[in-house]
Amino acid sequence: MTTIGILTAGGDSPGLNAAIRALGKSAIHQHGMHVLGFRDGFRGLMQNRTVRLDSESLSGILTKGGTILGTSRDKPHKMDVGGSRMDMTDLMLENFQQHQLDALVCLGGGGTQKNALRLAQKGMRVLTLPKTIDNDVWGTDATFGFDTALGIATEAVDRLHSTAHSHHRIMVVEVMGHNAGWLALGAGLAGGADVILIPEIPFDIDVVAEAILARRAGGSTFSIVAVSEGARSGAHVERKRTASERRDEAETDADRTAADRELDAIRDEEGDHTKRMARQLEALTGLESRVTILGHVQRGGAPSAVDRLLATRLGAACIDAVVDGAGGVMIAAQGENTARVDLEEVAGRRKTVPPDHRWIRAARSLGVCFGD
Ligand code: F6P
Repeated sequence: MTTIGILTAGGDSPGLNAAIRALGKSAIHQHGMHVLGFRDGFRGLMQNRTVRLDSESLSGILTKGGTILGTSRDKPHKMDVGGSRMDMTDLMLENFQQHQLDALVCLGGGGTQKNALRLAQKGMRVLTLPKTIDNDVWGTDATFGFDTALGIATEAVDRLHSTAHSHHRIMVVEVMGHNAGWLALGAGLAGGADVILIPEIPFDIDVVAEAILARRAGGSTFSIVAVSEGARSGAHVERKRTASERRDEAETDADRTAADRELDAIRDEEGDHTKRMARQLEALTGLESRVTILGHVQRGGAPSAVDRLLATRLGAACIDAVVDGAGGVMIAAQGENTARVDLEEVAGRRKTVPPDHRWIRAARSLGVCFGD
């Protein structure tokens, strides 16, 4: 009998349980397979912590947020074992073999695609599904989790409008997305933000302040700024690039240490860049501002119908791929269809927002400021 393993890795996202359910139900009911879940991502594969997935455990989970399997951000080749980083891929292979798995399905974002490839290179048959609220996985039109997070972030921008209006304030709202601007761009555009700042377009704070003052001069007494957590000013991007170049070129340990310290300082500044930016805007415009950091609320709760549909069709297509003998592939959404994309092609690449993306063009034509 065919046995498949399933694990969820990286940050959780709405739709994971819908995907687990689709994988499990299709595997069990259509093909009579055994399905084993590994707890807490690659850590569970290393520690051999499993749970049998059957009709009962797969029932009632479609609408649940999070992942019934648990997750972690562990990397198989750099596991924290007793305080040291160790390559545990051999042990993972042993556990894979011990359970006589025919395939392992890893549900995750960009990091998981890389980690899955590492396991595939060790000899395991691995398939993946693309999940993340960031929507930044290469090779797929969409990742499940994004649509739900987009809805939550859009609602937040909507709600900030009335209070911004009442108090005549600048409302700065920080949206997740790591180093991709999909979520801030989508929520900013759908929520009618006046300024949208994303990592793909380094901004100039003076340009943002001018746009806000121009709105004020035109009679609008409030402004909404949607900022992606990864957005940075052009000056910051340049400073970081120069510091890392200096580190790469350093000839002595002392130079390298100094450059490392500078890079650490720059990274520390990134921690609260949204609050700093709001203070700068207050100083430049003379208008009061407030910051809202949406954080993990964007990852919580029930998946939207769009995410349930995406997760379900990718999960079912993944079992078809297992039956066909495929391995080393990510099951991607491409238009109305699904595709099997080689993990080698996906791993290490990120789908960022193209500067001429149709959402950006539409926003610009409405007068939205991107700070450039
Ligand atoms: O990748 C999903 C994501 O939510 C990013 O948008 C965010 O930068 C990160 O995870 C937060 O990670 P954690 O949950 O580990 O704090």
